[in-house]
Amino acid sequence: MKIGMLTSGGDCQALNAAMRGVVKALSNKVDDLTIYGFLNGYQGLIYGKYRLLTRQDFSGILTVGGTILGSSRTPFKDIRKPDANGLDKVEAMKANYNKLKLDCLVILGGNGTQKTANLLSREGLNIIHLPKTIDNDIYGTDVTFGFYSAIDIATHAIDCIHTTAASHNRVFIVEVMGHKVGWLTLYAGVGGGADIILIPEIPYDINNVISAIKKRHDSGKNFTILAVAEGAISKEDAALAKKEYKKKMEMSKYPSVSYQIAHELEEKAGVEARVTVPGHMQRGGAPNAYDRILCTRLGAAAAEAILEKDYGNMIAMVNGSTKRVSLEKVAGKLKTVDPNGQMIREIKDLGISFGD
Ligand code: F6P
Repeated sequence: MKIGMLTSGGDCQALNAAMRGVVKALSNKVDDLTIYGFLNGYQGLIYGKYRLLTRQDFSGILTVGGTILGSSRTPFKDIRKPDANGLDKVEAMKANYNKLKLDCLVILGGNGTQKTANLLSREGLNIIHLPKTIDNDIYGTDVTFGFYSAIDIATHAIDCIHTTAASHNRVFIVEVMGHKVGWLTLYAGVGGGADIILIPEIPYDINNVISAIKKRHDSGKNFTILAVAEGAISKEDAALAKKEYKKKMEMSKYPSVSYQIAHELEEKAGVEARVTVPGHMQRGGAPNAYDRILCTRLGAAAAEAILEKDYGNMIAMVNGSTKRVSLEKVAGKLKTVDPNGQMIREIKDLGISFGD
């Protein structure tokens, strides 16, 4: 059996753990397993850059962050556009797959990666997709790998801010990754005990944020912590057309929304505000135990699908069980936080503000 593997898009913890899971499970059942590891995501498949790997290459990597194959972003919107030398990228990927006579290709990646995986599946390649991203925004799976490891890091960042915040009369903003969805901010915000959580799915009003800070202050608390998603958006901005909003953001003098909020709080409420951005730290380091276990199970389930030649699927985790979900059904869809969902209602019951 000949399989190809690639990791595409922004990296995260447990990519190696997931690949290890697939290879360990397959090599226990298949004697003649050949593994081609394409380098730096789809770029490796397009330009025929790969490494021949053995089972030993996947040994000892359960706990190693990053990806042994490297990764890159190859935007789906450009996939049909020829490269600078006129190369048809889709045809090139198909040609390299066929040249190596692969039985299947295992693709680890997020939303954009999944769209290209589905395109390749439609083009006749045998594809298995594994859902990675710290954003947890892949439709059709309860959880993506990387998410819980990133929660731990973002939560730890908020924990550290807590101790310094308690020593000063200040407002602290911790900016958490996630441009389109607020899962990571929501979970880290709750895990870290943030007082105000701002996410893209729930546009905020700065006056409501100020009221929440004042309410805390009036109750005797001398500091407030905000967990703010990279994609947090005000009600005013949410009412703008997408293009207008994009233009406004490009023209903004602030590096990110957190700095704008900090400035507004200082101007309008006279509070001293500080911003902390953990940034790519959230994607780094070793996967936590949850992600290691998740990836070991997803890897084994992927191997099972490969052995049964059941291709064109994402291997998902649904209600605690692994599940094959057709790429056709999920590619291009985004899993967002439900602003009226149970979790949001529960958190609001605690008095945590979403600024809405
Ligand atoms: O998609 C994962 C993610 O980490 C987002 O949360 C974040 O907004 C983005 O990638 C950052 O992308 P890049 O690594 O390309 O700066």
